[in-house]
Amino acid sequence: MLKVLVVDDEENIRHMLGLVLSKEGYEVRAVDNGEEALKELVAGHWDMVLTDLRMPNMGGHALLAEIKERGLETTVIVMSAYGDVDTALDAIKKGAYDYISKPFKKGEVLLTLQKAEERERLRRENVRLREENQRAFSFENIIARSAPMKEVFRTVRKVAGYKSTVLITGESGTGKELIARAIHVNSDRAAAPWVAVNCGAIPETLLESELFGYVRGAFTDATRDKKGLFQQADGGTIFLDEIAELPLALQVQLLRVLQEGEIRRVGDTTDICVDVRIVAATNQDLEAMVKAGAFREDLFYRLNVLPLALPPLRARAEDIPLLVHHFISAHNDKLGTHVEAASPEALRLMLDYPWPGNVRELENAIERALVLSDGPRITAESLPHKLSQSQDGLKHLLHGDNLSIKQTSKEMERILITRALKQTRGNRTRASELLEISHRALLYKIKDYGLQDID
Ligand SMILES: Nc1ncnc2c1ncn2[C@@H]1O[C@H](COP(=O)(O)OP(=O)(O)OP(=O)(O)O)[C@@H](O)[C@H]1O
Ligand SMILES: [Mg+2]
Repeated sequence: MLKVLVVDDEENIRHMLGLVLSKEGYEVRAVDNGEEALKELVAGHWDMVLTDLRMPNMGGHALLAEIKERGLETTVIVMSAYGDVDTALDAIKKGAYDYISKPFKKGEVLLTLQKAEERERLRRENVRLREENQRAFSFENIIARSAPMKEVFRTVRKVAGYKSTVLITGESGTGKELIARAIHVNSDRAAAPWVAVNCGAIPETLLESELFGYVRGAFTDATRDKKGLFQQADGGTIFLDEIAELPLALQVQLLRVLQEGEIRRVGDTTDICVDVRIVAATNQDLEAMVKAGAFREDLFYRLNVLPLALPPLRARAEDIPLLVHHFISAHNDKLGTHVEAASPEALRLMLDYPWPGNVRELENAIERALVLSDGPRITAESLPHKLSQSQDGLKHLLHGDNLSIKQTSKEMERILITRALKQTRGNRTRASELLEISHRALLYKIKDYGLQDID
């Protein structure tokens, strides 16, 4: 029920509007001057104000000015005496929605209110859409600050708008599913379905009917038609996780979907058109699988239109302090713990550890540490034992398979700076001497690599 505040010094107008509007289903209150009206408006929400202009004790113009000044959310309609159109227009310039000149018929008032209602509804709808859009263009749940991840975000923004297939690769736990979702959310398909399928988790015998659906009578249990996941995703995005696990027979069918945009249900004789954006992910080396004959080459090229490689966590250790912070607060909420931060010693261990299980492993370590820590800090002892056993990352780095000079030397710098800071217990002048770089350069790099907390 919409609430209308009537403001007029004439008793009979208040009475008449009160009757007419409440009969139409509005909740009405009538007051006889602007001051009273303002009190009501401050005390509670009113959808609309229907106000006379000339009144003792604050007229309509002054009331309107107060409403705008205080940012009160309400639609103002002014009632002007015959021959007073100029002042009414002036009120509209100052933010009133419309005016009615007196004397007016019942129908005129109702029509004006309905128009105002309609406009208000559109305005709200607009605000809602705008907010939704803004939310959509964010990566709020993906925590990263490192250059390689910023590059990933840039790519996501670029590719999101296209229908082309994206192939996300990366070690286990690097955030492939999170990025796949971000692609969907940042695309114009965001409001359409998102369907995630783990190709490795569905038994091979069921996979075809799960993906493509079946018609009644296709097999003994098929007592009625069933839509497959591709049809459920129509208009939206389907996420084919662990695509390397897709059996060869189904690889052929997927290829057909990619080429023709059509699926065929099990037991059906005709094809059905689907409009689905495909995002696939794998932690396997698909190219090697192609060479070994375990994955179809033609399908690989069809999938790999827009490749997106997620770097392992050890190649972006700058993200670790942020992720630690993020997971501490996320799991505090979940577990009811009150840990504030990781101790410098614990953070050092986490920065040095190569995290073969990537972000997922880090997240699990934090969750465990929250439970095990007594005080407000995650201590080194509460972290998995293997963290304190591992050497710092240098050895790992040199035996890794990354050939990028740029990335490897950055990583080496980070490790050496961490070591120097450790050795000098955070004395930056001493550390810069050990590292044989200027103090200024060291401060810059400390900031760049997010090593501020190490001492
Ligand atoms: N940058 C990040 N910020 C916040 N959380 C992250 C980030 N990356 C990964 N995670 C979290 O780590 C976990 C693993 O991520 P995700 O499931 O997307 O990895 P994955 O690459 O799909 O792993 P797998 O190959 O094992 O399926 C999830 O809980 C995810 O929310
Ligand atoms: Mg995954």
